[in-house]
Formats: sequence, C-alpha cells, structure tokens
Amino acid sequence: MQTIYNNMSFLKEIQRRRTFGIISHPDAGKTTLTEKLLLFGGAIQEAGAVKNNKIKKGATSDFMEIERQRGISVSTSVLAFNYQDKKINILDTPGHKDFAEDTFRTLTAVDSVIVVIDVAKGVEEQTEKLVSVCRMRKIPIIVFINKMDREGKDAFDLMDEVEQKLGLTVTPLSFPIGMGYDFQGIYNLWEQNINLFSGDNRKNIEETIAFSDVQNPELEKIIGQKPADTLREELELIDEVYPKFDRQDYLDGKLQPVFFGSALNNFGVRELLDCFVAIAPSPRPKESETRLVDPTEEKMSGFVFKIHANMDPKHRDRLAFIKIVSGTFERNKPYYHVRLKKNLKFSSPNAFFAEKKEIVDISYPGDIVGLHDTGNFKIGDTLTEGEIMSFKGIPSFSPEHFRYINNADPLKAKQLDKGVDQLMDEGVAQLFTLEMNNRKIIGTVGALQYEVIQYRLEHEYGAKCTYENFPVHKACWVKPNDPKNEEFKEFKRIKQKFLAKDKYGQLVFLADSDFTIQMTQNKYPSVKLFFTSEFE
Ligand code: G4P
Repeated sequence: MQTIYNNMSFLKEIQRRRTFGIISHPDAGKTTLTEKLLLFGGAIQEAGAVKNNKIKKGATSDFMEIERQRGISVSTSVLAFNYQDKKINILDTPGHKDFAEDTFRTLTAVDSVIVVIDVAKGVEEQTEKLVSVCRMRKIPIIVFINKMDREGKDAFDLMDEVEQKLGLTVTPLSFPIGMGYDFQGIYNLWEQNINLFSGDNRKNIEETIAFSDVQNPELEKIIGQKPADTLREELELIDEVYPKFDRQDYLDGKLQPVFFGSALNNFGVRELLDCFVAIAPSPRPKESETRLVDPTEEKMSGFVFKIHANMDPKHRDRLAFIKIVSGTFERNKPYYHVRLKKNLKFSSPNAFFAEKKEIVDISYPGDIVGLHDTGNFKIGDTLTEGEIMSFKGIPSFSPEHFRYINNADPLKAKQLDKGVDQLMDEGVAQLFTLEMNNRKIIGTVGALQYEVIQYRLEHEYGAKCTYENFPVHKACWVKPNDPKNEEFKEFKRIKQKFLAKDKYGQLVFLADSDFTIQMTQNKYPSVKLFFTSEFE
C-alpha cells in the first residue's frame, strides 16, 4: 500500500484543482468559450487573446502560419487560472482534424471535458470521434449547446441526437427560453433561476432573477404569456423524461448534464462555469501497468503527454509537458525516468498561466509542468521517485495517410535521420520501417503533417526530403498467439512486403484495404490484428 500523504494543505491543493479539455467540431465555438471562461477567471483582460491560436481555414500550405501556430500553441497548451477558490487548468486541444492524434493524447491528461455543440449543426463528425474516446476512458462529460442566439434545432430533438449519435445519457441543467430571434434567456435548473437577455440587441447585458417556482405568475410578466406556458410544459416534460442529475453518475461517465447558451454573447457561460467548478472532478486516480495510482500518494508520479519543439532552430531544446498524477513535483529534486532507467533533475520547471509561463518550485496533482528537454523524453514516458511503473493509456492509433520518405540530399542523411526521429518523439507523425528493405514510411492523420514535417526538417535540421505514395489503408499491430507456430511463420512469409516495425519495434501489418484485413484474419486466426498500439 502506498503512503497517503496526510497533509491537509496538500489534500486541499488536490481538491481545488480542475483539469479539463474543451472539445468540439471546428467552428462550434471552442475558442470563443475558452476565451469567455478566461475572462470570467480574470485571466485575460480582453477578448481576442486566445483567438490567434486557431488554425485558419485554408492555411494548409501557409508555412508561416504553421510556424506561428506552433509558437502560439506553446503558450496556449495549458491555460490556468483561479476561479472562486478553484485552480482551473484548461488543456488546449487542436480543433483541426489533421491534429486529431494530438487531441487524443491530450485526453489522457484531462480529468473531465466540456463538449461544445453548435445548435444549428448538431452533432458533427469530429465531435463523435472525440466523444467516443472520452467514453472509452469514462471521462466525465458536460455538454454545452452553443449559438442559442441563432435559429437552430429544437432543444429536445438536439438532446435526442446527442444521446443517439454520441451514445450519452443526458439531463438538462439549463434550458433555453425561445431561440434565435425569440431567444429570451435561460432557465437554470441547477440554480433554479432565470437568466434573461435584456438591452437593445439582447446582447451582453443580462439579469438574473431567482425563480424557484415556475408556477409563480410573475413569470408571465417577465417573459410573456406564451413563452411562460411553453417553458412550464417543457420543464414538466424534462421532469418526466430525463433522469435527475446525480453527481456520482456524472463522475462515473453514466450521465451527462447539458447546458444551453451563447459563448459569443456571454450567455449561459457563467452558469456553466459555476456548475462546472461545483461538480467536475478533482484529479482522479490513474491506472499504471502495475497498479492504480492515487493522487493523494506522497510520492510524485507523472507522465509526458505532449512534446513541443523550440521555435528557435539554434536552441534545439524542447518542452515536455508532464501531467502530475500523484505527490508534489519539486524543482531541483531528482526524479526517475522509468524508460531510460536514470534520475533527472529539473532546474526550471515551467507552470502555465493564461498568457505566460513561469518557473515554479512546486506543482500538485492535476497540474501540468513544462520541462526543458534535450532529447530525453518521448510521449508516454513516466517519471516517478524510483518506482518502476508506466502509466497506461497513450496508444498510437492507426494513421490514415502513408508515404515513403526519401532523402533528397545525400550529404544530409544523418540530419534527416535525427530530424525524423525527434519529430516522431514529439508525436507529429508515426514512423514505420519496412522489414524487407528498411525503407521508412511516415503515417499521419492528415495531409497537413507532411508539409509540416518537410518544412521543419529543412528549417530545423537542414535536411531535405521527398515523399512517395504508399497505398496503405490501415496499420494493424500484430500479436501472434504463439510466435513460434507455423501459422505465424507463414503469415510473415506471405505478407513480408507489408510488414514493418513501429518506433518501439512492435510488428505492424500495413494492409491495403478492409477486405485484406478481413481475409488475413480469416486465414490466420491465431495472428491477431489491432488498430491501436496498446492492446493488452
Ligand atoms: P472553434 O474554436 O470551435 O473552431 O470555434 P470559434 O470559437 O472560433 O467560433 C467559430 C465561429 O462561431 C466564430 O465566427 C465565432 O464568432 C462564432 N460563434 C461562437 N460562439 C457563438 C455564439 O454563441 N453565437 C454566434 N452567433 N456565433 C458564435 P467566425 O465568423 O468564424 O469568426 P470571427 O470572425 O467571429 O472570429
């Protein structure tokens, strides 16, 4: 049994932390909502500060844009601020689908998420993918239906859609009074009050009226007869149809509260934030390959979920982002790097705030620390105080695009190898080496990464590369029931042209179609194929 550190101030620090991510399909309003939350927290003074973080539409081949993005994304990787007595850490997740893998990895470091959905567009593709990862990990989810100032889908229909497409069980904690032009405000089921839009354009100015009983005839006076009747009917329906909010069910991933509002007009955002700080979990225990690690344990443990290269090519150090799982992370104290089997000390660990990073002496579970790294870290690495264990849950998913990478400058072969190696450690893409001839294949989630890699290899490592198409549909990680049996030997012989090793040396079958995967699985039933690298 691990020692529980019974120090009151330590336990208080853990309990007051809320580390979460905001996820959405691009354009649903993630950036706007993030910004509004920061404004509430007093962390930024004006709107527009986070906005620059967005990858602009059509920026695909604009390298300066890519570079600018990389610079900004360091400072917005973690947005920390205090609200009420809570320390909030928002982990930024790129909305662009070409960076989906980055988002999946960030989801291993959050304790809960807020999903933003556009009221007119409903549940979109990227939302489905991201929520399915959250569901697999049983991450508590709050749904925020945004853009209520515009005409959109009916609130009940939308909640049905959320349940069906995202596989969630929802219960509204706020409900809109009207929509679009007729939008008057929000009935807050959580706080039992009405939040009204007022002012000329029904923007920005708001008024909160406590209203514990909707039968109160005052309601008609405030919002009008018809909207009052409709609201009463809707609340009755909600009472009959949706489960009562139960915090434990929410924490267990069995129930998802829904809020309605408009991030742009700052409507429903405070309600969301107030409820979020009240119900969202503080740092949760995390499964390692050997045991469950509790945040209250005295000994420090943490893992790397993101690596960011320095923007200045002359200083090729990187920033490794560590999520602290247990204990306290202290400056200048030696920690054990489990994969490298050695102790490392960090003289300038960075903590992140809304617009800046600062050196910190001590960090707590739930916090993200940025460590300067000269090549020691890979994504997924674990740091401890000596215990040999690795945190689970940073798998690689099969990429969707595959290309050979060729050296275009024979004098720079070493630089190319080094560059490719380091970019893969950062998780920019995945490298596969063909068993047959050692040719290298780069697998990515989106086409944009090939341009990023080419550009960065040239500018940071002085190496040039070209690509060549390689017709692969999916990478399947291979696990034979018995590596010595004849079936596996035959599989390896017949498929040798399509077998490769990933960067950890695991065997991968590069299949050209779903049909091939099916046929292969039928023909070699004792050779199991997996679509992620972590299958045990
Ligand atoms: P994202 O990060 O999820 O991609 O979305 P983002 O916040 O950038 O919002 C996408 C667009 O939707 C922006 O408009 C933004 O102003 C708008 N938006 C966000 N919340 C609301 C809302 O509550 N109501 C309405 N009507 N619009 C909202 P844009 O024109 O693409 O960008 P911008 O020129 O306004 O910056």
